[in-house]
Amino acid sequence: MTDQTKDRVYIFDTTLRDGEQSPGATMTHDEKLEIAELLEDMGVDIIEAGFPIASEGDFKAVAEIAERSKESVICGLARAQLPDIDRCWEAVKRAPRPRIHTFIGTSPLHRAIPDLTQDEMAERIFETVTHARNLCDNVQWSPMDATRTEFDYLCRVIEIAIKAGATTINIPDTVGYTAPRESANLIRRLIETVPGADEVIFSTHCHNDLGMATANSLAAVEAGARQIECTINGLGERAGNTALEEVVMALRTRGDIMPFDTEIDTRKIMQISRRVSTVSGFPVQFNKAIVGKNAFAHESGIHQDGMLKNAETFEIMRPEDVGLAGTSLPLGKHSGRAALRAKLKELGTEVGDNQLKDIFVRFKDLADRKKEVYDEDILALVTAAMTDG
Ligand code: KIV
Ligand code: ZN
Repeated sequence: MTDQTKDRVYIFDTTLRDGEQSPGATMTHDEKLEIAELLEDMGVDIIEAGFPIASEGDFKAVAEIAERSKESVICGLARAQLPDIDRCWEAVKRAPRPRIHTFIGTSPLHRAIPDLTQDEMAERIFETVTHARNLCDNVQWSPMDATRTEFDYLCRVIEIAIKAGATTINIPDTVGYTAPRESANLIRRLIETVPGADEVIFSTHCHNDLGMATANSLAAVEAGARQIECTINGLGERAGNTALEEVVMALRTRGDIMPFDTEIDTRKIMQISRRVSTVSGFPVQFNKAIVGKNAFAHESGIHQDGMLKNAETFEIMRPEDVGLAGTSLPLGKHSGRAALRAKLKELGTEVGDNQLKDIFVRFKDLADRKKEVYDEDILALVTAAMTDG
């Protein structure tokens, strides 16, 4: 349910396009359909389903995702070339809500590759965006490597893209080079400077090379961007893209300082995170924010004791809100007596204070030798304490 007091931020997921571009993350056709269905089901506004000209397989996947979609906008990527845009349109056109996303590298380094002058590139942008807009009334345009493009030239090409009919202007930090204050300043200055900026949605697309993708995306939103491009688990080229689960939970948890709303059903986060990890073959690091195995786990005695008394002592989000059954208090060498007692109770074993003391000594001895102490270990310790005692 949208909160009317907050500004809406659109979530654009590119797991199936930028995410799948990570070396080794290729997904099968059926896996892509499954992920698209999960994304739509969790409330993603725009799904970038692939790069239709890249391969026959990509084309088919985008076309079938488009055909099966209901609410989400289905987007395909195209370079600034007419055949690319036509192929993209062929793939997305059966979606009830199609979008063409076309891009070109605008920084000096990227302009040198097709060897275009600034004027030649500007003409190409006008021609390709106009062509896309003649096919589809929802067109996104991206100046690739925007954060390393000269500001004046960036303003000029964005103005051209808007005049040619682009409805969303996406600002990619292609190589994860920017930092939060710079990200915010760039979006703010573009919105203030470019004629027609108020008629389009500004979007942020960040990569995580310096570990700042989430911070840069949120800074861009605070400065006026209203679309965040992201992927599940932060899957993506090199160090990955902005992680969907991080920006969504940050906006939800810190709505007091970032009053923005998304339509994401956050309780679906864990399920899709696990599926994306399985189908891409990319494990999620244990301490990854929101979806890591340890994100809601506490081992130290002080933390476990606090959590048993009041979960807010060491958790700023409820595990249930991201689709977990609850907090986990794994027993290890840092655990204290309170957690051991709680575990015994959970296992249906009530013990007196003296017995608890005895089991605790045995437990510490075992925990010094073992990374994690499992339920079976605890039950064996109880039996041993009863037998010896
Ligand atoms: O990182 C990037 O610049 C991209 C563009 C194609 C939007 O993924
Ligand atoms: Zn990217």
